Amino acid sequence: MKKVSVIGAGHVGATTTYYIAEKNIADIVMVDVLEGVPQAKGLDFSQAAPLRRYGVHIHGTNNYADIAASDVVVLTAGVPRKPGMDRMDLLKINTDIVKGAAHHIAHYAPNSTLIVVSNPLDIMCMVALDASGFALKRVLGMAGILDSTRFRYFVAEKLGVAVTDVHAMVLGGHGDSMVPLPRFTTVAGIPITELLNKDEIHELVERTRKGGAEIVGYLKTGSAFYAPAASVAEMVEAVLTNEKRIIPAAAYLRGEYGYEAIYLGVPIVIGKNGVERIIELELTSEERIHLDRSAQAVKEGMDALRSFYTMAFK
Ligand code: 2OP
Repeated sequence: MKKVSVIGAGHVGATTTYYIAEKNIADIVMVDVLEGVPQAKGLDFSQAAPLRRYGVHIHGTNNYADIAASDVVVLTAGVPRKPGMDRMDLLKINTDIVKGAAHHIAHYAPNSTLIVVSNPLDIMCMVALDASGFALKRVLGMAGILDSTRFRYFVAEKLGVAVTDVHAMVLGGHGDSMVPLPRFTTVAGIPITELLNKDEIHELVERTRKGGAEIVGYLKTGSAFYAPAASVAEMVEAVLTNEKRIIPAAAYLRGEYGYEAIYLGVPIVIGKNGVERIIELELTSEERIHLDRSAQAVKEGMDALRSFYTMAFK
C-alpha cells in the first residue's frame, strides 16, 4: 500500500485525509503539534471506515518519525491571518512553521514528493524547497487546481450545465492577481468565449480571483477547506497513480513562461516524480500582461521573504 502523510490536522489537513481515504489508494498518517487532536481525528476516521468502505489505515500522531517511507507528504501547517496581523507577520510565522516541517520531512521521508498548501502559497513553496533540499520537481504547490475548480463551478452554475463537463485553466500566483484563462476554459470542448459574453466572463473571472476571500467573508474566522482538500486529494492521486494528469499547480520555473527562480501556477503533467513536465501555452498579449502582473506580486513576496530569510538554495 502506498503511504501519504498530511502535516497539519486542522480543517484543511483533516478534510484532505478524509478525501484521500475515500479514494482507497494509500494509508494515511496525519501529524499535528497539538496533542490528542490528530489521534482523535485518526481514530474517528478509522471508525467511519466500515460504513464509508475504505480499507486503508489512518493514523494520527504528534511524532514526525511516523511519516517514514511516505510516497507523498502534504504540508498544510501554518496559521491563517488573524486580526491585527499584517501579511508580513503572517509570512514570518508561516515561514518558521513550513521551514521546521520541511526539515522533518527531509529527514524522515527523504524520497517523498512534497505538496505544499500553506499560505502565502507560492512563497511557502520556495521555503519548503529551500529547507527540504528536495529536487525541484518534487516540491509543488496546490493552488491552480483549486482556483480552476472554483472557476469550473461558477461557469457550470452560470450555464446550467454539468460541472464535470467544464474544464478550466488558471495560471499565476495564488492571489488576487491570479490569471483565469477563458480561452482555455471549455464546456465539452467548447471554449466559454463561444457561450458567454465578455461581461459575463469578466464577472466569473473576478469571482474566481476572489474565490478564497468570498469564503473568508462568510466564515470570518477561517478560510475554505472542502475545495482546497478535494484539490489536494486529486493531486495526491495523480502522483500515486502516475496517470500523467494535467493539473495547474505551482512549480519552480527556470525560464518557462519567461520567468526565473520563482514558483508560479502553470499547467503541469503530474506523475510519480512530481512535476513530470511543464506545459508552456502561447499567450495573447493581454494574457501576458495579466501573468506578468501576477508574477510581479509573487516576486514582491519573494523579496519580502529574502529580507529576513537566507536561502540555502542556489
Ligand atoms: C483559498 O483560496 C485561503 O488559499 C485559500 O481559499
